[in-house]
Amino acid sequence: MDTKLIVVVGGAGKLGRLIVNSLLAHPDTRVRALVRNPGKPEVAALAQDRVELAAFDAVSADDEARADAVRGAFTVVSALQGFGPDIIIDAQLSLIRAAKAAGARRFIPSAFAYDFFTLPAGINVHSDWRRTLGESARSEVSDSFEVVHVLQGMFADRNVLGFLGLFDGEKGIVRYWGDGTTPIDWTTWEDTARFTAAAALDERKVPERLFVSGDRMDILTFAKTWESIRGRKLSRERLGSLEELERETKRRIAQEPRNVPAWLPLMYARGVFGGQALLGPSHNSRYPEIHAENLAAAIARGAL
Ligand SMILES: NC(=O)c1ccc[n+]([C@@H]2O[C@H](COP(=O)([O-])OP(=O)(O)OC[C@H]3O[C@@H](n4cnc5c(N)ncnc54)[C@H](OP(=O)(O)O)[C@@H]3O)[C@@H](O)[C@H]2O)c1
Repeated sequence: MDTKLIVVVGGAGKLGRLIVNSLLAHPDTRVRALVRNPGKPEVAALAQDRVELAAFDAVSADDEARADAVRGAFTVVSALQGFGPDIIIDAQLSLIRAAKAAGARRFIPSAFAYDFFTLPAGINVHSDWRRTLGESARSEVSDSFEVVHVLQGMFADRNVLGFLGLFDGEKGIVRYWGDGTTPIDWTTWEDTARFTAAAALDERKVPERLFVSGDRMDILTFAKTWESIRGRKLSRERLGSLEELERETKRRIAQEPRNVPAWLPLMYARGVFGGQALLGPSHNSRYPEIHAENLAAAIARGAL
């Protein structure tokens, strides 16, 4: 088997590191991790036998820097995080074009979410940027070059739920909007990284939307499951209806347009509890070597 080079943009981020590690679990794989600051000790420590680090800023890079960054890649994976269209749309679109020009087989943008293609526009500005990127990227797709969005729902992780204001295990509180029975797709960070690595190395055609998932469970069933595994009671706090969630989101944006943390979690909550961005039929079985952890197992090991 030929050795494949996978380029990981944002390779020093939380998901980026997990993707690099998952790639290294595959033999005959080399990784080029693109990082903004390869001199930082904790970043420099990522370099090893099969991992090279390259300095790269996705926003300020010019065509030549992008071409150098992706040269020789079988797949370019982006695990960038960004809070503006400059990085989510413009920088990633430029990287997609560079990857295609370099002869890569595919580009995997930093999606890693629920299915924002089916979420109506105007609910979550971050989802809107990712959908715009996906739609713009279609004109780059050809018989020999694909763009694949890994879609896995919400990470089964207490910090992610905490960011959304939905769960505090220490205080024993679970909060929700709507009636609490909307199904939610959940996958761990680690399994998402495994599926992403498998898709990056895949010799076969990969669907544009790669749906992978650990579980589907509504928030009230999550609360019950958590209680039975942890042996502790959670109090349930209904924050309001979906209409109230929409009104509250708009109110906060009008009141504090620049204070993103005041309203962004509510936008994600609308995506999660609205039920419009559920994943399509699972593609887990494409990669039978990956046994995705369900929510009960993730709770049992303390992820939540
Ligand atoms: N579905 C969910 O529940 C969920 C939850 C969390 C995250 N996510 C998604 O997962 C993806 C990765 O998130 P994460 O939490 O792993 O992010 P993270 O830890 O913040 O890492 C983001 C990486 O992007 C890099 N980066 C940012 N701006 C850059 C630029 N201009 N040029 C080059 N690199 C740049 C950062 O580089 P430095 O190391 O130099 O700062 C960092 O390594 C995102 O798409 C995010 O939306 C999904």
